[in-house]
Amino acid sequence: MLTHERNKLVTETGPGTAMGNLFRRYWIPFLLSDEVGEPECAPVRVKLLSERLLAFRDSNGKLGLIDEFCAHRGVSLWFGRNEEGGIRCPYHGWKYDFSGQCTEIPSEPEASGYCKNIALKSYPCLERGGIIWTYMGPPEDQPPPPAFEWTSVPERHRFHSKRLEECNYLQALEGGIDSSHVGLLHSGELRSDPLHHGSKGSDYHLADREPKFEVRESPGGLNIGVRRNAEDEKYYWRVTPWIMPWYTIVPPYGDNPLHGHAWVPIDDENCFAWTFSYHPTRPLNELELGVMRAGGSLHVKLIPGTFRPMANKDNDYMIDRGAQKAGSAYSGVKGISMQDASLQESMGRISDRSRENLVMTDKAIVMARGRLRKAALDLEKGKRPAGLDAESQEVRSASYVLPRDVAFDQAPGEPMKVKKGVAHTSI
Ligand code: FES
Ligand SMILES: [Fe+2]
Repeated sequence: MLTHERNKLVTETGPGTAMGNLFRRYWIPFLLSDEVGEPECAPVRVKLLSERLLAFRDSNGKLGLIDEFCAHRGVSLWFGRNEEGGIRCPYHGWKYDFSGQCTEIPSEPEASGYCKNIALKSYPCLERGGIIWTYMGPPEDQPPPPAFEWTSVPERHRFHSKRLEECNYLQALEGGIDSSHVGLLHSGELRSDPLHHGSKGSDYHLADREPKFEVRESPGGLNIGVRRNAEDEKYYWRVTPWIMPWYTIVPPYGDNPLHGHAWVPIDDENCFAWTFSYHPTRPLNELELGVMRAGGSLHVKLIPGTFRPMANKDNDYMIDRGAQKAGSAYSGVKGISMQDASLQESMGRISDRSRENLVMTDKAIVMARGRLRKAALDLEKGKRPAGLDAESQEVRSASYVLPRDVAFDQAPGEPMKVKKGVAHTSI
């Protein structure tokens, strides 16, 4: 349970808010590279942490993320022409380069130098792993580039997608931390999804419906261990890292790819849910790519030309009551991510946490909320947040069997660490 005041603190991320200031200290994934694939391609409207911006790739391939609106009289530069060296407002022709600097005002004599004094707000961008990231915080505090494993594997090892989720980022993130719903809500997929079924892990998962949870602090967030009974007095562990501020990595099954997630606030009532699928040591195979491209596994089918899922609240997520009764889809909604999104959106745009009744299996959620809140308040006192460095980001999820007397974070061989050229630990 959170008071209204605490709920506001952890859910509001616009300019000047405590959580907004915290999130602005991280590199933020906001576009797939092919959304601005070519120099001088069409600009893209971007809303991030409640700020309205415009992204484009200029004639030299440089990425710009600038204020969406022209400094002259406020026209949206989305209508602008992306031409030689910048974006030109189609109303009176003011032109801006990738850094937001105004470079030309056709109606003013060049000698006046007036345009030199005009600059739009802009944020630096970088491209890593097929994703475009921006940093919206104070320039002097810019952290090193993102080091998550999915940003450094070869292109053929990865498949990334994003989808609109029509609710606050936090309830969506909490769904990623909350492993206790998986064996129930996603039970149909554990049996049928080609990227989940057939592993020893999914057999253990389905066989023990009373998992036990253990949570440990990690340098960049939490490690959430879930144990189930295995044979010979052993436990089967599935470990999900949560990395500040909004990343999780789903524990793997067999040799299937890993899947990272991020829930990035568009504004306080919408977020982008990212899925980063990757294999550390091999290219994704045709089966895997086929499933992912078709919106299967943890990806979703989108309305063409948009990032809104085909199944959405306007069509009740295409719920199939017959499948619900038969048990082939536990909730009747198809697909792991839409099962999650349907329930998370059903909580309302911003979940009212003053009305919830938490239980033991919500421990990781309580710890994550507490850690985010503390980091936001500590930042106001000048303390650098966790999760900014490679040590925090070069981690993996893992699944393994251990003797019952070995703690999950004492597993031999440091299975949660990225080891270049070595596959993830998974059964
Ligand atoms: S409003 Fe953009 S140039 Fe006039
Ligand atoms: Fe889920």
